[in-house]
Amino acid sequence: MATLGVNIDHVATLRQARGTQYPDPIEAAVLAQLGGADQITVHLREDRRHIVDRDVRLLRSFLQVPLNLEIACTAEMLSFALEIRPDMVTLVPEKREERTTEGGLAVNRNNAELKNTIEKLQNKGIPVSLFIEPEAHDIEESHGLGAKMIELHTGKFAENSSNENESTELKRIEKACIAAHNLGLIVHAGHGLNYRNAKAVAKLPFMQDLNIGHSIVARAVLVGLERAVREMKELIRG
Ligand code: PXP
Repeated sequence: MATLGVNIDHVATLRQARGTQYPDPIEAAVLAQLGGADQITVHLREDRRHIVDRDVRLLRSFLQVPLNLEIACTAEMLSFALEIRPDMVTLVPEKREERTTEGGLAVNRNNAELKNTIEKLQNKGIPVSLFIEPEAHDIEESHGLGAKMIELHTGKFAENSSNENESTELKRIEKACIAAHNLGLIVHAGHGLNYRNAKAVAKLPFMQDLNIGHSIVARAVLVGLERAVREMKELIRG
């Protein structure tokens, strides 16, 4: 059965939206650990729109579960990752104008920049995962680049609302899991997974870990709201 990586970026999104110090993703990570998260995942974006450097440094210093740092393949992010030494790095595509990571990395075994980044991280003992579409070509190229792991982009599966489309996409991901495993790659998956669709992906063969963020943070807002209102009301009324 797959393990759960909890992505806490959206807690930081809420903080950055008001420029306050709360909600603090560090506190969210503590609670996620208590809730059973097997890993904490954060995406340090070039524009620092949610997670900031301080968050990653603090997480690195106290987390008891592994820290998965998502970054774009740039010189700045590579040197930050080499300094911080997370338990693993996931390389993701990044565009400033996107709302969230859209689509997987364009992987090509001859991409010198990607190969060099993977090599530098893995030579320092930081395994690298590539966030890719569940396609045979992308899996083979990821293997050719020397990555130890892949994270299959489940966005298309999650967006397909009809059962028929969903099961076609699930089969595509299943085929990708098997192909990746046959090449010796460790398989993770994520993006758009929620309380309705995550179980089907978790049950796929060789699926080791799911990274889930938005649906968990969204649910936390709702299940925690009643208590938050009650606490404020008690405080006001003395
Ligand atoms: N995995 C990767 C590589 C991502 O970029 C994201 C989104 O930040 C996720 C998983 C989590 O996706 P979601 O927030 O839709 O659960």
